[in-house]
Amino acid sequence: MKNKILVTGGAGYIGTHTCIALHQAGYDIVIYDNLSNSSREAVNRVSTLIDQPIEFIEGDIRDSESLRKVFAAHQFFGVIHFAGLKAVGESVAKPLMYYNNNVSGTISLLEVMAEYEVKNFIFSSSATVYGDPETLPIDENSKRSCTNPYGQSKLVVEHILEDLAVSDKHWNLITLRYFNPVGAHASGQIGEDPNDIPNNLMPYISQVAVGKLFKLSIFGNDYPTVDGTGVRDYIHVTDLAQGHVAALNYLEQQDSSEKNSSVGFLPINLGTGKGSSVLELVTAFTDVTGQNIPYQFADRRAGDIASCYSSATKAKTLLGWEAKLSITDMCADTWHWQSTNPNGYE
Ligand code: NAD
Ligand code: UD1
Repeated sequence: MKNKILVTGGAGYIGTHTCIALHQAGYDIVIYDNLSNSSREAVNRVSTLIDQPIEFIEGDIRDSESLRKVFAAHQFFGVIHFAGLKAVGESVAKPLMYYNNNVSGTISLLEVMAEYEVKNFIFSSSATVYGDPETLPIDENSKRSCTNPYGQSKLVVEHILEDLAVSDKHWNLITLRYFNPVGAHASGQIGEDPNDIPNNLMPYISQVAVGKLFKLSIFGNDYPTVDGTGVRDYIHVTDLAQGHVAALNYLEQQDSSEKNSSVGFLPINLGTGKGSSVLELVTAFTDVTGQNIPYQFADRRAGDIASCYSSATKAKTLLGWEAKLSITDMCADTWHWQSTNPNGYE
């Protein structure tokens, strides 16, 4: 058995997929999640898929005492930190809740890690930290700026990690900037299960397909893109999960190398490097699933940008990781999950 990893937010959408990938790569995992946006059923399904019980602790990252008990009971190599709130609109309405959860929560986690001398950390950041990019594809040195509290909370944590790396050379802090995660596990047993009406495109499309929603509104058809609709870099959640395994492998290699050199603060994009428009995604979904997706054009959504896609070079060069799954896989796996679980984990 390889090293033991604490996965905060491991019951959520990306966390569950990553736990499976980590298990398959031989890691021992402990999930720590307050279930504020997930369920025990998701954890049960991960256990079924890996065919063994999973150690799950219900707790909040802001609860330092609870975290101390977890660190005292386990010898962790590192932490993969997914726990956080992620709805942009909600963050505008409730900024204090977002800063408290995402920023204060991360500080409390890092403090307890420092107490227990666990200094390998992988953070879930987002392409949202690039704001409206000046050039495409977006590489890791691009200027960062955010326009909403959710994005700011990611950016503030990135700055905290940069300061931490300067203050103490023993910290190894990889910040993974995800582009647009979509899709579901090939089994159809786990996937994205949004509360209420989805804000993001792929879950909205799949809920129209399954008959839970009537019609898709496409936000803007006058952008300077291939067909006027917004362009994004959609990445299959299974590829994203493998990106975390690759990041962990990288930390282990640094840890065991003769030089034992510190990684410091290391930002890496996780994207495919390719952009697809809203209309291209809708067409692909219909082609793959045979489901018609009625849509109408609507006004641009406030805060949206025309195009966003990654430079995927750094992840390939440094981690030896690249996305393998196509838009077809993303649509097929989303539909498999949605059609077999129309009400998510309920
Ligand atoms: P998710 O909501 O499905 O998972 C997050 C998990 O964290 C949930 O299980 C939730 O219960 C848990 N959680 C939240 N606050 C917590 C707290 N205070 N203590 C303990 N657990 C807590 O979201 P996801 O899509 O899996 O995203 C995971 C991470 O990746 C988040 O940090 C998110 O901001 C980031 N991210 C997501 C996307 C995306 O499109 N899904 C894109 C970029 C970045
Ligand atoms: C959004 C968030 C971003 C967050 C990311 C992942 C905003 C402004 N940005 O990114 O901060 O990191 O989700 O959670 O909310 N679209 C429609 N109709 C819909 C939904 C979306 O046309 O019903 C379009 C959007 O205008 C966009 C594309 O689809 O062009 C993708 O949207 P979405 O899935 O919400 O992702 P982002 O906007 O990239």
